[in-house]
Amino acid sequence: MNETQPLSFEERWRARYREAHTGATVTCDATLDTLLSHRSVRSFLPQAVSEAALEAAIAAAQSASSSSNLQLWSVIAVTDPERKARLAILAGQQQHVAQAPLLLAWVLDLSRIGRLGQQRDQATSGLDYLESFVVGSVDTALAAQNAAVAFESFGLGMVYIGAMRNHPEAVARELGLPPSCLVLFGMCVGFADPHDLPAIKPRLPQAVVLHRERYEARGEADLIAHYDQQVLDYQRERGSPAASNWSDAVLNRVHGPESLMGRERLHQALNELGFKLL
Ligand SMILES: Cc1cc2nc3c(=O)[nH]c(=O)nc-3n(C[C@H](O)[C@H](O)[C@H](O)COP(=O)(O)O)c2cc1C
Repeated sequence: MNETQPLSFEERWRARYREAHTGATVTCDATLDTLLSHRSVRSFLPQAVSEAALEAAIAAAQSASSSSNLQLWSVIAVTDPERKARLAILAGQQQHVAQAPLLLAWVLDLSRIGRLGQQRDQATSGLDYLESFVVGSVDTALAAQNAAVAFESFGLGMVYIGAMRNHPEAVARELGLPPSCLVLFGMCVGFADPHDLPAIKPRLPQAVVLHRERYEARGEADLIAHYDQQVLDYQRERGSPAASNWSDAVLNRVHGPESLMGRERLHQALNELGFKLL
């Protein structure tokens, strides 16, 4: 998604934070340029994603660090329109899931090492612990983000789909997952519709997230109030009909179980999928 004309680090910083960069500068090489220019794409052209791009992105994914090199993930590339349409319904009717030429289902996969143990008649009860689920989640996310950056470096757009966890068992059935597998999230991939290009979404001021030596929340409220205004500006620039600031949006998103879109029963769903989470 990075424009053909590379921007300076200062310009990329301003686009991300809506403020001038004041500290020491760095050269914005192609990698940093791709990272800083990320924006989620939710409107795609029908043009297919090439096998070459897919395989290169998965090589990037497999190049990510992996805890103890366990490689606790798999990925399913879905291009069948009917399957994408069914998954779009399961993901809260998100049209971009059906529209994207490629949907990747990123699978936290404890089953492969489980099978290895069975074949060799060796115990694998370490997989039953919450720790293994966390390790698998981290591995899957790191791999997926590497793939995302690779796709973006090719000029493709993407958006993650956490709503794949709204109905985890139905998604698992649709994709033929064995037990001890969960689609942690989906990823829509394709060329962005040039008539509906997304803008760069501002992030919290760096001082809110970057702490020095020890955690320090003093001064945070003013910085967040400032950010709330930036988010409102961003939405108004895009003609968003229901503009809401960041604080209201995130508090609404975590208000209670009713705000979790079915995911409040994730623990039960994971048990049904074969995760013990001891
Ligand atoms: C794990 C994860 C799940 C997400 N799930 C969805 C989703 O289901 N639907 C969607 O449209 N965007 C989804 N997003 C995209 C976020 O809304 C988006 O990254 C965030 O608003 C920041 O915007 P940006 O990516 O354009 O910078 C998800 C992002 C992540 C990291």
